[in-house]
Order: sequence, then structure tokens, then C-alpha cells
Amino acid sequence: MKKQTFKFSTASTDCYFDAAFKQLKEIVSQQHAIIITDQNIFDKHTSKFKGWNTIVLNAGEEFKVQATVDSVIQQLIELNADRKTTLIGVGGGVITDITGYVAAIYMRGISFGFVPTTLLAMVDASIGGKNGIDVGVYKNMVGIIRQPNFLLYDVSLLKTLPDAEWSNGFAEIIKHACIKDAAMFKILEQNNLQKIQRNKKLLSQLIERNAKLKIKVVQNDEFEKGERRLLNYGHTLGHALENQYELFHGQAVSIGMTYASVISQQLLKFKQTDAVVKVLEQYGLPTYASFDKNKVMTVLKMDKKRERKDINYILLEKIGKGIVLPIPLTDLENIISNL
Ligand code: GLY
Repeated sequence: MKKQTFKFSTASTDCYFDAAFKQLKEIVSQQHAIIITDQNIFDKHTSKFKGWNTIVLNAGEEFKVQATVDSVIQQLIELNADRKTTLIGVGGGVITDITGYVAAIYMRGISFGFVPTTLLAMVDASIGGKNGIDVGVYKNMVGIIRQPNFLLYDVSLLKTLPDAEWSNGFAEIIKHACIKDAAMFKILEQNNLQKIQRNKKLLSQLIERNAKLKIKVVQNDEFEKGERRLLNYGHTLGHALENQYELFHGQAVSIGMTYASVISQQLLKFKQTDAVVKVLEQYGLPTYASFDKNKVMTVLKMDKKRERKDINYILLEKIGKGIVLPIPLTDLENIISNL
């Protein structure tokens, strides 16, 4: 199994691309590890968990809350987890968030790693160390930045992934292409969801390319003072829509990217909005949508990307070149109400 190690400010992450779930045993001892997963994954892959201590959580974003964290901590105590225990999150973004967050606070911090089981978790959620929980409509309001010790990629886990989850993952892949990788944008334009689902080689290459793109951005700016902010492209408006309208994360981000392109057109003379919209559609994602502007502004005012009276909005100069533009809240209110 090939290992690639990536260094961050206080930790490093071993990545095993092209691995298989059963190789997890070669990374951590079963005796000293506890897997955290959700009921859907456990039911689909029950035999894979044989021999592992496993905590099974209810599936769904509505469970990414403090009550679940409390219950996991209680179960860790019952399983005699100690400072030498490694937690392994096997799942999508909710599981990686809860696992990374609990690992950061249990006994003031224990080791953790992830086996992402969704495309979104493979290219985004499992990478970067930001792990936390939602508080009411406020997404990821409470959390930490702490890097996982390892990431194991088993692309065969995607075989059972529903179509909506594929689109969810592609929203982040398209985001990466828009802000940093014009060549990848071309590849996405030349393909579509169904073509890539059928092309295992291209899929594996895309997953590794996106994981590495995100790792590099995080390595350059782990604590989000500069370049890492670009990863929020589509997320400012997206997060404000996601819990209010019960959208999938990818759908919300896709609508967010559409309007961020429109705002880029207004403020930066960006000329490729139609190309962005077309690619989003090719991957089954929504673009223009109607929403309650006042409600959205209320949530935006609480956004973590707000600094005093400005919101750091991520816009595009051109495809492959994202920039951070501080927009005063009052200006943003006007821009949003005229969308
Ligand atoms: N866990 C996702 C991130 O750090 O961006």
C-alpha cells in the first residue's frame, strides 16, 4: 500500500490513495482503535466491521450536534478508550466532523483517521482538519482545526453511493476547478456525471487530484488567514441556504457558486458565468433559484467569514483564479436584494 505523507504546522497526515478497507489493519491495531460510522454505512458493509470496536450513529446532518458528541463520549468511556486509542471515522462529512471533533476533546485529544465513504468526503470533508458541529441553523458554528493522522481511500466504497451524493461531491470538485485549476475545469466540461461514474481510472485520478489540491491549499494556510478562504467559494450564500431550505450541501454550494459568479460579473467583470452554470448542470446540480433574501441576510450576518462590517466573499477573476474580496455588509445587502 503506497503511503504519501503531507506535513502541516503541528502534524502530518499519511494518505493511502488506491487502498482497500481491509488494509486498515496495516495502519492501526484493531485492539487500540474504535470506528465511528453511521447506520447506513454499517448496514451496507456490516462484514467489513467484523473484529473492530464500532460506534454506530444515526445517519444525517441533523445529528451533527452536541447531543451526538455527548453520546459518543459516553460510549468511548464505556469502551475504556484511553489516550492511546485511535478513532477512525468511516463515513461522509457528518461522521468525519464528529469523529475529528470528539478526537480533539476526548482526554484533551487523541489520534484519529478517516476512511471517507462519499465522494464529497474523499475530495473535501476528510481533508483540512476543520471538524465541528452545527448549532441550530448555524453550520459548523463550534469546532476545531486539527489534522487527521491518516486518510485511507477505498474508491470501491462509492459503488453504493446514491446519485444525489455523487452530485454533492462534484459540487466541491467544480469549486476546486473554478478557484484553482482551469485545466481540470476543461476535463469536467468534456465529461459529465454518468461518463465519470463509468470511467474508474478518471474517477480515481480526479479524486487524488482534488484531495491534493485541497491539501496544498491547507498546507499553505492551515488557519485560514489567506489562501484557504478561497475554498469557501459558493459557501457563503450556500451555508445560509443549506439548513434553511434543507438542501444537500452540494446543491446549496452550487446555487452559491452560481450567484458568486454573477456577483463576480458585476464587481470584477468576470465573463464565464454561463460556463460555470453549464458545468454545474452537467453534474446534476441546481443553479439559479429563488430564496428569501431577508432571511438569507440574517444568517449571513452570523457567517464565520464576517470580519466586523465586511464579509470576505470569494469571487472569480476567471475560471481557475479565485480571489477574496471583502464586501461591506451594507453593500452585500444591496447586491443580494438585486440578484
Ligand atoms: N474538514 C474539512 C476542512 O477542514 O475543510
